[in-house]
Amino acid sequence: MEEYRLELRNVSKSFGEVQSLQNIDFKLGRNEIVGLLGDNGAGKSTLIKIITGYHQPTSGEIFFNGQKVDHLTVPKARELGVETVYQERALAELQTLWRNIFLGRELCNSFGFLDIQRMRDETHRLMTQSMGFTSHAVSPDSKVGKYSGGEKQGVAIVRALFFNADIVILDEPTMGLSLKETAKLVSFVNSIKEAGKSAIFIDHNILHVYNVADRVVVLDRGKVAGEFMTQHIGLTELMDKMVRVAETGSLN
Ligand SMILES: Nc1ncnc2c1ncn2[C@@H]1O[C@H](COP(=O)(O)OP(=O)(O)OP(=O)(O)O)[C@@H](O)[C@H]1O
Ligand SMILES: [Mg+2]
Repeated sequence: MEEYRLELRNVSKSFGEVQSLQNIDFKLGRNEIVGLLGDNGAGKSTLIKIITGYHQPTSGEIFFNGQKVDHLTVPKARELGVETVYQERALAELQTLWRNIFLGRELCNSFGFLDIQRMRDETHRLMTQSMGFTSHAVSPDSKVGKYSGGEKQGVAIVRALFFNADIVILDEPTMGLSLKETAKLVSFVNSIKEAGKSAIFIDHNILHVYNVADRVVVLDRGKVAGEFMTQHIGLTELMDKMVRVAETGSLN
């Protein structure tokens, strides 16, 4: 049996009368980028909150690397390598780049003092080697507040990768980004894959997801309405199917 980094089997989630997720089967392979698509209220955020341990499913099973995990909590999910990159709010705008990268998980020397030089050096290495940052405006000591939206997302992704996230979750990362910034973000997301990690990329817009995702999962009203390998389906065909899902809740 192929082992997935993450697998949800038959997961349902209700909030009182509201059934937000119904019998969800979801898999994330190694080195795979999955696009999670769906309209407002489809259940995308609820699914992510189950994966990050924020919500417990009402029923169903969760496996990490083939091991069943009961009672997943936020710290446990983090320990298992799940990191979520939220929009800009995740960064301290008035702080320097290196402080943002190491915020809350600062490196210390053997005397227990902050090892500022090492954090600056690591930041420089990550920026140039992992992320291909070329702008002169971006240095370990520059303030994050003046970066473009795409660069800020890049910083958040670098942070996740540095702390050895195996599964990076991007929740609507293109929101508020320009076309150029979105293109940059896409190349950052590709660097997740090059680093041998996996990602879940959530978006309303199929155009943002299509080029970066290996597989696309479409949620509709709490159910998986369809699943496609992007290499096997053209963009126009996929868009047609999305319209059909929105109208009928199913692909058939
Ligand atoms: N904590 C909660 N209590 C009650 N209902 C909830 C809760 N969280 C989500 N829901 C309901 O579950 C359904 C799915 O919501 P969810 O936030 O997962 O959708 P979404 O796909 O992320 O939508 P959007 O694209 O608007 O962010 C909605 O009907 C929502 O009202
Ligand atoms: Mg949402």
